[in-house]
Parts: sequence; C-alpha cells; structure tokens
Amino acid sequence: MKHLIPEFEHLKKRLPPGHDATLLVPCLRRVQEDRGFIADSDIDGLVEYLGVPRIQIEEVLSFYGMLRRAPIGRWHLQVCHNVSCSMRGAERLLDDLTGRLGIQPGETTPDRRFTLSTVECLGSCGTAPVLMVNEAYHENLSAADLDALLERLD
Ligand code: FES
Repeated sequence: MKHLIPEFEHLKKRLPPGHDATLLVPCLRRVQEDRGFIADSDIDGLVEYLGVPRIQIEEVLSFYGMLRRAPIGRWHLQVCHNVSCSMRGAERLLDDLTGRLGIQPGETTPDRRFTLSTVECLGSCGTAPVLMVNEAYHENLSAADLDALLERLD
C-alpha cells in the first residue's frame, strides 16, 4: 500500500485540513484496484496513514459490498436479482451461470477464472436483467447474449 501514498497525498491536497478520514473510501477503492482485494496489511497501513480507528475501516468494509477482503477470479460476474431484474429473467441467468460454472454465488471456480455474486441493484433497472462483469454492464441480457458473453471471457 505504501507505493500508493503519493496518490493519496494528491487527493489529500483537495481537502481542508483535518478531514483525512474522508479519504477512507477512495483509498480503499484504490488499494483494491491495485491488489485486487484489501488485505490486513492494507488496513494496518490506512490506520497509520489516515489516523482512523481500525473498527471504522472494518465498518466501511462490511457496509460496501464492492469492497473485497479476499482475492476473486479474473472475471467477477455480478447478477442483479432485485425486483426489476428478477421480473425480467435474472433467476434464469443465475441458474444458467451456476449450472455452467459449477459454483454458487459467493464462490470462485477452481481455475480462478470466474467469481459469481448476486447484488441487490445495479442502478440500471430500466435495462433489466443486468449482469456486471468486472466494471462493465451487460444489459437486457438474454440467454443467447449470456452464451456469447461467456465465450468471449477467456
Ligand atoms: S433491479 Fe436490477 S438494476 Fe435495479
């Protein structure tokens, strides 16, 4: 995490003095982008750097589902299964994925290619059903679209 401190210092310059703790979420996101997840040593580093209590960091980590404490597969498949997506076929997509990948939500394939998750709403209800693959949205997803998409993910 120490190699990211120059970036954090750049962010810190935008804040009024004494508000370092507001950098917690941006710092956690940047650490995750760099490592793929947030390790215990990263938390230790942020406690020291930002001067926030460890419990505050743990609270943030447990609140935001997008922040991870463990490594995941190369492709993170997040199926929205809230109302709009469920009404438009999300459960079928989820069944297809669990069947094809042989894993349940929250699991990673043994070859570490795919991690499957369910999420509550991706904020794109008008284009349901929605699947997020890493940072990309795939909307109005049909079974055929899913087949084609999985073919492209190596
Ligand atoms: S319910 Fe799926 S994006 Fe909102």
